[in-house]
Amino acid sequence: METNEIPIADPETEEEEIDIAPVEEIIKNLPDNSRGHLIPTLQKVQDVYRYLPAPAMELVMDFLNVTQAQIYGIISFYPQLRITEPGKYIIKLCYGTACFVKGAPIIGDKIHDRYHIRPGETDASKLFTLQTASCLGNCGAAPMALIGDDTHGNIDPEQTLDVLGEYKKDDAEAPATEEATV
Ligand code: FES
Repeated sequence: METNEIPIADPETEEEEIDIAPVEEIIKNLPDNSRGHLIPTLQKVQDVYRYLPAPAMELVMDFLNVTQAQIYGIISFYPQLRITEPGKYIIKLCYGTACFVKGAPIIGDKIHDRYHIRPGETDASKLFTLQTASCLGNCGAAPMALIGDDTHGNIDPEQTLDVLGEYKKDDAEAPATEEATV
């Protein structure tokens, strides 16, 4: 599903189960129910869950008295707001001119071939979500990508899967490391 694709409500679908206490706390701390609080509130909710779960949005809609159409209008307009849970690592692949000519499309194709994702999608194991950027502000190090909190520059497109493989390896090793310290 595209990151900001608007879901169709399906009464047969199970409700997402989340702990709504953090949303209640966010709402409780709002000075009033003015709609001007909508975007900052959605950002705070996303900071908690990494995306905007439907039950959380319902609480926000109720309190700020906005309709589902209005809230999804906002979400469609702001690509940083997500209605689906992202992968553990968000890959922001730069498709600006400098990065494009230095191989960003090859990097994108290699990610697709291995992880079967295009921009806006998350792989089946929920490890990677692919997004694109128009310029990451360091064109001299093209092609550039952000992976999670890490900046990668001068990426050799042929080495794309090696770079991502390091994250996959770290992820696979993380539980074993934690268990070993218990
Ligand atoms: S075009 Fe990619 S960093 Fe500027």
